[in-house]
Amino acid sequence: MIRICFVCLGNICRSPMAEGVFKHLADEAGLGDRFHIESAALGPWHVGELADSRARQTAAAHGVRLDGTAQQVKPKDFARFDLLIAMDDENVTALRRLAPAERDRQKIRLLREFDPEANGDTSIPDPYYGTRRDFEEVYQMVERSSRGLLEEIKRQGLEVGD
Ligand code: 4NP
Repeated sequence: MIRICFVCLGNICRSPMAEGVFKHLADEAGLGDRFHIESAALGPWHVGELADSRARQTAAAHGVRLDGTAQQVKPKDFARFDLLIAMDDENVTALRRLAPAERDRQKIRLLREFDPEANGDTSIPDPYYGTRRDFEEVYQMVERSSRGLLEEIKRQGLEVGD
């Protein structure tokens, strides 16, 4: 069982999309039972809320349901997951600060490391103050990256990026 938590600032736009898309792709590949997937926020503002309606509608248009509610990542979550996958560089900085130990910091990755079309971009931009088109662009980045992540895990287990 590989345990992954996707992390963004609010846990209502990017990371719920990543959670939903990755679960969908793993199920499609017949690997759903090999993963435990969650998503979480760095900030407390939206805890308990469903994903943003624009994120839910964008995902639904691609056949992906987002039905979880927001939670905030805690230091003890580093023990619960093998990988904590951040959406942008600020998320990485905040996660590094939260990590209880050096070995926990090694569990932190950027989702776009796995995007074959990243062209050097490291971040998935925050769409919260953006348009529906921004949500669609974010969805496409999340999907490409999630496919890349699943392929990497299939190829080499958890040694991703090492
Ligand atoms: P997310 O987007 O990090 O992709 O979920 C955000 C949602 C809400 C806020 C920030 C980012 N906020 O500040 O409330």
